[in-house]
Amino acid sequence: MIGSDSKHDTMTKAQVVAQLLPSTYAPKETGASFAPTNIALCKYWGKRNTELNLPATSSLSIALPGKGAFTKVMLSTQAEDTVTLNGLSIATNTSFYRRLTQFIELFRKKVMWRLHIEIQMTIPVAAGLASSACGFAALTMALNDLFQWQLPLRDLSILARLGSGSAARSLWSGFVEWHQGEREDGMDCYAEPLSMQWPSLCVGILTISQKEKFLSSREAMLRTVKTSDLYRCWPDKVQRDLTQLKRAIHEGDFTTFGMTAESNALAMHATMLSSWPPICYALPETLAAMQQLWELRQQGIEVYFTQDAGPNLKFLFLEESKPLINKQFSNLDIIYPFKQRVG
Ligand code: PMV
Repeated sequence: MIGSDSKHDTMTKAQVVAQLLPSTYAPKETGASFAPTNIALCKYWGKRNTELNLPATSSLSIALPGKGAFTKVMLSTQAEDTVTLNGLSIATNTSFYRRLTQFIELFRKKVMWRLHIEIQMTIPVAAGLASSACGFAALTMALNDLFQWQLPLRDLSILARLGSGSAARSLWSGFVEWHQGEREDGMDCYAEPLSMQWPSLCVGILTISQKEKFLSSREAMLRTVKTSDLYRCWPDKVQRDLTQLKRAIHEGDFTTFGMTAESNALAMHATMLSSWPPICYALPETLAAMQQLWELRQQGIEVYFTQDAGPNLKFLFLEESKPLINKQFSNLDIIYPFKQRVG
């Protein structure tokens, strides 16, 4: 069932964790990891289980090497967990701190321990650049390192999902598919990488605003599933887009790839616009940039965009079009997903 209420969701996060973790931990002094952020080409929008972040559909993403979270975790002797973000201490009364420590809480066993967590983010937090995805993925992998759980990436993907749905996809580089699964406990709901590479593929980030989003993706998804008539069409659209995208990646068919990704993002935003109260993450500058991009396309330059729960756009194009696109959009942050180092 799509978008079920937590009161009807039978299994808890703690029960999932108990199924996957060893009965005792053997902590080292420090655990560390890097996770790249990921941009969905076929979006995850709507849950079939809100407690476990089980999605209504599968999704497909591309990782952005060099953009993400470096996370270090250490056992601490303080009375409570301490967190720093880019060198600054995070106050315990912030939602950022609460989200993080609620996640940590899932892994605390009878033996009490506290953690000191240091996060270095190379992207703005909560501005639709998937900071929660790389944040929870890096934290999960750092905990796996600290406590020497030695879990396979598939299990870590399941655990990261409990922090934030899209975090399930942030454990790999390149193209990653997250399977919606069918099981109530979500044990078949994990991501895995596709083997295909596309060396000339570029992603350009057009930052329009770095302000924190006005509505979390969690709230926005709930509202969309509950109130949007258009949402009924969404699962079928995703299924078609996913098949089409995988075929386009396989065949190196950039036109189908770009068209499908852009159409998928626009359809997701259409479901939000048709929610009540309506949800619109675009700013006037977002729409102006879309128009400018469509004009470029009319001139024969193959460039497409995708947009997440924020006003920023991510352009998709091939290396050969870079000079012309850069001329129109001089402030694009251009990433080569298959040529750059991950961390
Ligand atoms: O994982 P969340 O709750 O941050 O939701 C992510 C939602 C989108 O970024 C809009 C789509 C996606 O698949 O990443």
